[in-house]
Amino acid sequence: MGSVRMKDNAPVITIDGPSGTGKGTLCSRLSRWLGWNLLDSGALYRILALLGQRAGLPVTDADGVAALVRERFPEVQFTGTGADDPVSVSLDGVDVGARIRLEDCGNAASALAAHGVVRASILAWQRSFQRPPGLVTDGRDMGTVVFPDAELKIFLTANPRERAKRRYNQLSAKGIDVNLAELAEVIAERDRRDTRRRLSPLKPAADAVIVDTSGSGKDEVFARVTQIISNHSDLGLNI
Ligand code: DC
Repeated sequence: MGSVRMKDNAPVITIDGPSGTGKGTLCSRLSRWLGWNLLDSGALYRILALLGQRAGLPVTDADGVAALVRERFPEVQFTGTGADDPVSVSLDGVDVGARIRLEDCGNAASALAAHGVVRASILAWQRSFQRPPGLVTDGRDMGTVVFPDAELKIFLTANPRERAKRRYNQLSAKGIDVNLAELAEVIAERDRRDTRRRLSPLKPAADAVIVDTSGSGKDEVFARVTQIISNHSDLGLNI
């Protein structure tokens, strides 16, 4: 697909929403379809949770984790950001992509993400992913805080039961043994924390397009969103 855009900055499409709405799959498919870069901001929060955990810092030590992050982030390598591979991430030369996907990192990430000093420590890093020809971002506050001028903002929702089931299927497929009822409770607790926090809470931007993915398969969600993108003239795409 060709782009005929004249603006200085690379265009951005933000995809926000709670876990289990299909953001990850959608974003990596969109970045491949557009040939754009991909920012998985949740992975950044998960990495900082892992860094803190390995340094023996409790999730309440926001200042300690933020300092550690500033020192260690240059060593974090992202590969496969948008081309043919899903995002993979390595720390100290070791692939930690699967490790950071486990629920303990997700929960620690959510707890740390409530602290302003932690969010500030990765703001510039997140924005540095905005490079030509464009960027697709996956997160909670991409459209509200990190890329408020994004050309297109999408907010995915789905009912809580379905989100828990999707997450359960993802983990089971990776051979991770989880209990559906417990997982639903953990997800609900994480949503409560992400939605109620004072700083950058999980919420749609005022100008976001809401896409409810309940009852829709991955292909259908992809088709609906690519339709929205194709109809969006601000992106200056030649589709
Ligand atoms: O999308 P995820 O499950 O990988 O994100 C893990 C946690 O990181 C999530 O519960 C809250 C936090 N997070 C955030 O606060 N802001 C983002 N843009 C992305 C993730």
